[in-house]
Amino acid sequence: MSLEKANKLVKDENQVYAKSARVNYFNLVIDHAHDATLVDVDGNKYIDLLASASAINIGHTNAKVVKAISDQAQKLIHYTPAYFHHVPGIKLAEKLAQIAPGPSEKMVSFGNSGSDANDAIIKFARAYTGRQYMVSYMGSYHGSTYGSQTLSGTSLNMTRKIGPMLPSCVHVPYPDLYRRYKGETEHDVAVRYFDAFKKPFESFLPADETACVLIEPIQGDGGIVKAPEEYMQMVYKFCHENGILFAVDEVNQGFGRTGKMWGIEQYKDIEPDLISVGKSIASGMPLSAVIGKKPIMQSLDAPAHLFTTAGNPVSCAASLATIGVLEDEHLVEKSAKDGEYAKQRFLDMQKRHPLIGDVRMWGLNGGIELVKDLETKKADPEAATKVIYYAFEHGVVIITLAGNILRFQPPLVIPREQLDKALDVLDDAFTAVENGTYQMPKVAGKIGW
Ligand SMILES: Cc1ncc(COP(=O)(O)O)c(C=O)c1O
Repeated sequence: MSLEKANKLVKDENQVYAKSARVNYFNLVIDHAHDATLVDVDGNKYIDLLASASAINIGHTNAKVVKAISDQAQKLIHYTPAYFHHVPGIKLAEKLAQIAPGPSEKMVSFGNSGSDANDAIIKFARAYTGRQYMVSYMGSYHGSTYGSQTLSGTSLNMTRKIGPMLPSCVHVPYPDLYRRYKGETEHDVAVRYFDAFKKPFESFLPADETACVLIEPIQGDGGIVKAPEEYMQMVYKFCHENGILFAVDEVNQGFGRTGKMWGIEQYKDIEPDLISVGKSIASGMPLSAVIGKKPIMQSLDAPAHLFTTAGNPVSCAASLATIGVLEDEHLVEKSAKDGEYAKQRFLDMQKRHPLIGDVRMWGLNGGIELVKDLETKKADPEAATKVIYYAFEHGVVIITLAGNILRFQPPLVIPREQLDKALDVLDDAFTAVENGTYQMPKVAGKIGW
């Protein structure tokens, strides 16, 4: 594999591209892509197990999406929704309100990124409740604007040097079933973490001044970690009993990623008050939305939450086509089915590879946790880095979460043959790393978060 052109381009780019905007992995300069295949500027082909950070659920350059973009671009590239209207925006707002989880009437407000959709949650929740406090989770990633970054809890680099962050935001721990105490059942874990959730409300956080709890149904950047059903129900009930809005971040886990249309559908009968969506909503075209119950979404007046380029008609057309493909090609069901298949393959690998501590998978959405020791469960980021580098050198693109967790999120359209091929490469990577036959090239440098 030659990376001659790529290495030169990245070297040049490093002179002008601020380092705050990229977590370093490989010198992968992508030239073109289709479905689950990437081709770089040197002509190397890769199987994509990242789907542009879960932003390309229906696959790269889907023909229907490409057509929708090009048709719309010839008619109208943009006119700001801050003042006037366009048909793709009207249709998409109707569609999102219709497919959002739960029976209540919904309304939609568009933005440009998942981050601003989470800022919208703060604004609407505070406005509707007249309360100031927000509760979110350690290990969460909600984005990179000040509000969403304040609510996040994944990296010190997201607060270091840039504080003070938004006031009145409190973080609670997200349940971790893998590192449960000896002898604990799932029920015990749910109760222990719910106790931790309630602690702030018993000591410094007045529930009647709390606007909202924002949670990822499955933590994405936290390592593909799913809270126990019982825990989620307890938090949901606590919110209802205390007039606190219950909001979910579907930016990473929505649009079929978990084998359900919405991540929150992994739990029984939960209707969120507010939902943030982005990423795969428009197959990577810049678009986000906050979807909420009607009275909540009517609690602010313009220009409290608007953007000149929000709800761009080309992005809205791409989104309508994307949702159409998800529905028509039954990709949500495919995600569930192929996710189960991949899970079984990883579980089989776990039997043979002591490096694999935990396999967490809902849909084509997995966190494969690598550890130094199965007893102590001590994280092994060095091994994880070697595994992903080996994979990259063998034509498979996969990155890590939290240093030691493999992030498995291929486009949902990935054919079984490609899925098998990628899993075979990972199997070989585990073997090579475990028996010490693989050495990373020196040029790999410091990679990962
Ligand atoms: C769960 C979640 N919420 C919000 C965001 C932020 O989205 P964006 O990067 O589009 O602003 C991300 C991005 O990774 C995410 O994973």
